[in-house]
Amino acid sequence: MVEDLRLDSLEGVGPVTTRKLSDAGVHNVMDLIVRGPVEIASITGMEKDTAEKIVNKARQHLVDGGLIANHFTSATEIYKSRQSIGRITTGTNCLDTLFDGGIETQALTEVYGEFGCGKTQFAHTMSVMVQKSKEEGGLEGSVLYIDTENTFRPERIVSIAKAHDMDPEKVLDNIIVARAYNSSHQILILEEAGPVIEENNVKLIVADSAVGLFRAEYLGRGTLSVRQQKLNHFVHLLSRIAETYNCAAIATNQVMASPDVFFGDPTRPIGGNVVAHTSTYRIYFKKSGKKRIARMVDSPHHPEEEVIFALGEAGIIDPEEAEKKTKKTAKKATTKKATTKKAKEAEVEAKVETPEVEAKVEIESDDFDPVEE
Ligand SMILES: Nc1ncnc2c1ncn2[C@@H]1O[C@H](COP(=O)(O)OP(=O)(O)OP(=O)(O)O)[C@@H](O)[C@H]1O
Ligand SMILES: [Mg+2]
Repeated sequence: MVEDLRLDSLEGVGPVTTRKLSDAGVHNVMDLIVRGPVEIASITGMEKDTAEKIVNKARQHLVDGGLIANHFTSATEIYKSRQSIGRITTGTNCLDTLFDGGIETQALTEVYGEFGCGKTQFAHTMSVMVQKSKEEGGLEGSVLYIDTENTFRPERIVSIAKAHDMDPEKVLDNIIVARAYNSSHQILILEEAGPVIEENNVKLIVADSAVGLFRAEYLGRGTLSVRQQKLNHFVHLLSRIAETYNCAAIATNQVMASPDVFFGDPTRPIGGNVVAHTSTYRIYFKKSGKKRIARMVDSPHHPEEEVIFALGEAGIIDPEEAEKKTKKTAKKATTKKATTKKAKEAEVEAKVETPEVEAKVEIESDDFDPVEE
């Protein structure tokens, strides 16, 4: 393992270059790899050649220390290094089956679906699960939660932690929340995340929502290419960080109605191809009455599969758990049977499942760039 990740541990990088780099938010050898030579040159004003040399040295340093793989690697080596990939349980049998044990480190998992389908609940649940012991399917790590829509709720974390017999105070302590106010700020948070990830043993990075701010700020066709370019920068950064720091990354993404689709599901994730091309895994969440359906859409090694899950106090739950709860409520109502008018009403309420109104998805025809397809 590489002990020294300081910039000046690289040969030829002296105090002046170190300062120049850290002024630009590059704090260690990992950051050099994450940002890459083109970006290093542009943010520090260095010559591109110099930046390339430094980044190459950084890469060699990490290869020597066994932290990253060399350019030419045998499949056996890759197979071995994939053994170091960690998995975080989802806390449910259904989604663990879909993910083949849980979500992976060194990968970006995109979760997309319409509003209310459970993307934020999933992000909250995973923020608790990653803290579980390795025996219980966690990684004993902490979380960097980038909240762009102000939907992070510590109360939800508390109830999810309690449902999993974990100490809620400790669980809250291990979640670092970064509230992003605009898309540039969202990018900046990631650019500066290196030392935070290292010092706090972050094993999960959440971007909820990854695309919302970009979408709100760059409206209309004219700004589409700038938006996709910036979003591209963000998701690539996220994916490189996940790979370099061996942590899992979750990016959520809403869907929009696609007016040109006549058959099948007329929705598509916003941010479309940019996020899709960068993500290692893509999961589609869909409402189905009170239940939810999760589909593995794109994966290099999972079959395209669907499972049913539910949402509850404990976050993401198995559908059987949700059924047990409904039965319990119904039973309670029946025992009190019709002694008072109120009890009678409660019974009726417990029996009648309110059908959930199918979500109306916004139509945004300018959201897709046909050139991108
Ligand atoms: N404490 C709870 N117990 C049970 N279900 C809950 C609880 N809190 C939230 N939910 C469920 O979660 C749903 C909201 O899910 P969530 O916020 O994850 O949606 P989302 O996919 O992030 O939507 P958006 O695109 O608007 O961000 C609610 O409709 C409700 O069904
Ligand atoms: Mg949400």
